[in-house]
Parts: sequence; structure tokens; C-alpha cells
Amino acid sequence: MKKDYIDTKNYTKEELLYLVDLGLKLKQSIKDGHYPQLLKNKSLGMIFEQSSTRTRVSFETAMTQLGGHAQYLAPGQIQLGGHESVGDTARVLSRLVDILMARVERHGTVTELAETASIPVINAMSDYNHPTQELGDLTTMVEHLPKGKKLEDCKVVFVGDATQVCASLMFVTTKIGMNFVQYGPKGFQLREEHIKIAEENCKVSGGSFLITEDEDEAIKDADFIYTDVWYGLYEAELSEEERMKTFYPKYQVDAAMIAKAAPTVKFMHCLPATRGEEVTDEVLDADYSVVIDEAGNRLTSIRALLVHLLAPTCNYSSQDAGAKYDAELELMIRNHPVSK
Ligand code: CP
Repeated sequence: MKKDYIDTKNYTKEELLYLVDLGLKLKQSIKDGHYPQLLKNKSLGMIFEQSSTRTRVSFETAMTQLGGHAQYLAPGQIQLGGHESVGDTARVLSRLVDILMARVERHGTVTELAETASIPVINAMSDYNHPTQELGDLTTMVEHLPKGKKLEDCKVVFVGDATQVCASLMFVTTKIGMNFVQYGPKGFQLREEHIKIAEENCKVSGGSFLITEDEDEAIKDADFIYTDVWYGLYEAELSEEERMKTFYPKYQVDAAMIAKAAPTVKFMHCLPATRGEEVTDEVLDADYSVVIDEAGNRLTSIRALLVHLLAPTCNYSSQDAGAKYDAELELMIRNHPVSK
């Protein structure tokens, strides 16, 4: 059966950590000058209903580096959005490419693509979630873990509006068993549908979550402070005046807020940022800000995801994957032509 990547709720903690490990291994391989051609002759179709820098470039670069090819299917340049249905588009593209990714306005579009395509479909962000961002963020947290701590020991605080990135951060941290907090105003907090998933995750993982308007409680001992733009991107978009009235100055991440966190705190942002709104220049450009590593790890994790979904010898997901993947990946790298 084909596997999609629409929502991390369909992936286990072990699979997500396996993808992080695989991504870091491929990152090291490429840093060392070895580009394993694991996706040779494979084609990716990239459907974008909205603009993107990080996601688009990461997918295209990942395909090229691993020997494949990506096609940008821009709005207005394919029939989707005209009179061709989502299902017809999915069935046709299933004959033309090996894998699809889609950034969509409505989550239902990407789930319909996945249901009707016979090839793997990746959700490259919807109005509900941003699962490839989750994987990149997890990778960044692994790379920037405070000394002596495991992921499960960490407190991750999202400050501000309950965007799809906020929801995704709650999904992935609670899945892993971390301690998640949303510090945001009423009316802009995660909803019941998100809370239900976090509760289910925490039952299995032992993680925790909290949604609060209390800054001291939220920020105390935070290992990672994360924010995103204030306006709902797809629904109830706020004017600048409304944004400032709702969030400023209480929910702006500034140096005074950072000072309340753990001394080793790292600042994260999915980007693009609106400097001077959700975060100050001082924080965004500080040495504790890992936002550029985070953007780079979109590529790290997307390479792993594409290999996982497309390279059959790497397509295992059992609990014991961690034990066997090292040997298998080494074999894959050795068996594939390597370009320098
Ligand atoms: N974080 C993110 O998804 O960035 P882009 O919108 O530039 O892809």
C-alpha cells in the first residue's frame, strides 16, 4: 500500500525519529561531498496554491541532489483550480510523476489528492497543519538540544497566534513526549480539535501540554521559544491595526521575554517573519536564534521524507527500524552511483 505524508498523526514517534536520523545521515553524506543517487529517474510534481520560498526550494533541491527531478506546477499554469477536479488531477499526475506534494488553501484538497492519487502525496502546508515543517523543526531541536537533556526533557513554548504551524508544533512535540505550551490570547488559542490530538499523543508518549495567557508560567525554564506571524493566514486575516491591538506588546518575543527562559534557550521561527511584530530584530538576529539552521533543515528532513516514500529499500517503518537503518542506508549509499 502506498504511504502518504499528510499528518504526523499517521506516523509513530519511532518513524518520525527515524526520519530525523535519516535526514541527518543524508545531510552529513552531502556535507562530505557524497550525493547518493537514491531518487535517480524519479519525478516530483509540486502543486502550489500559495507562494513559498523554503518549502519549494527544499523539495526541488532535495530531488536534484538525490538524482531526481521536480516540476513546479504553479497556480494558473495547471488545470487544477479551473474546471478539472482534484480527483482527475491526482489520477492523471499519478501516471506522469512518481510522487506529489501540494501546498493548498484548504486541507480537504490535499486529503482528496492523497485519496485519489495512486502515488505518495505530501502535504506541504494547508490551513490545518504543516507536517514537513514539523519534521524540520524536530531535526533542529535534536541538533540544538541543551547539554545533558533528551527531547523528552524539553519544554517548547509557542508564543502568539494559533496558526497551523502552532498546531503542528503541538502535534509533533506531544507525539515525541516533550512538554508543549502555547502562550497566546483567548480567541487565538489552539482549539478543541487540536487539544484532542495532543491528549491522545500525551497518553502514549508521556508528554504534556498547556495553553495559557500567563507569561511567567509559560516562559519559565523554556528550552525552545517559537513564534509565527500573527495574522491567520487563511481565515479571519487581521489588519495590521487588529494584529497590534490583539498581540502587541504582550505576545511579542523580545529580549525581556527570552530572559525569563532557561539560560540555554533557543529561539525558533518557521519564517517568513514580520520583524517588529511577533519578534524583535534583536531576538531574531541573536546568537541563540536558530532560525536559519531551522530553514536549512527543511531541506534536511525533506530529503529523508522523499527517500522514505520513494526508495523501496528504505521504506521500512517498524519499531526496530532504528536498529537496522544504519546498515541499510550504508548499503544503499554504496550501491548507488555517487557524484561529488
Ligand atoms: N516555513 C515555510 O513554510 O516557508 P515558505 O512559506 O517560504 O515555504
